[in-house]
Amino acid sequence: MSKLRVLISAEQIQARIQEIGAQVDRDLPTGPIYLIGILKGACFFMADLARSIHTPVRMEFMGISSYGKGKTSSGEVKVTKDLDVTIEGYDVIVVEDIVDSGITLTYLMQLLAQRKPKSLRIATLLDKPEHRQREVEVAYRGFQIPDEFVVGYGLDYAEDYRNLPDVCVLSDL
Ligand code: IMP
Ligand code: MG
Repeated sequence: MSKLRVLISAEQIQARIQEIGAQVDRDLPTGPIYLIGILKGACFFMADLARSIHTPVRMEFMGISSYGKGKTSSGEVKVTKDLDVTIEGYDVIVVEDIVDSGITLTYLMQLLAQRKPKSLRIATLLDKPEHRQREVEVAYRGFQIPDEFVVGYGLDYAEDYRNLPDVCVLSDL
């Protein structure tokens, strides 16, 4: 039977997001900033981060599949939903739920850099550095976490648990 243990509470998440929002405002006071949320895991982080930023933002979404249904990404990356807008000349922040191996974001950042944004940064709620296979430069990081599989606040296990308000460790699968 699977067990859930709260790792980061909803209150801790909100407090950290307010700090990140303030940092974004200091770094990019002019805007508009394109926030690009990676579906589906970043949905709640995207919604809360956008509201914590006072610089004008625009919200866009991309779909990325790493061909994995289970607990690890398989290494192959595919764009399942691309942007509907051009980001050339704009400040862009890619908003992701978690960086694990770094394969997904390495691929995505190369793709987006070709579109000539004015600046291109990563905001990730969670960073799990132990399995990193590709170096990823993270500008805004919510929390660094140990090598455990987490769900909630957008993160899933086989599409379940996304709506939990806290980030929880899922064990004993
Ligand atoms: P990466 O390409 O290995 O960095 O994979 C990042 C993606 O893997 C994330 O966007 C998640 O979809 C998924 N992922 C990695 N670790 C976890 C986890 O602990 N819980 C849920 N999804 C995870
Ligand atoms: Mg994901």
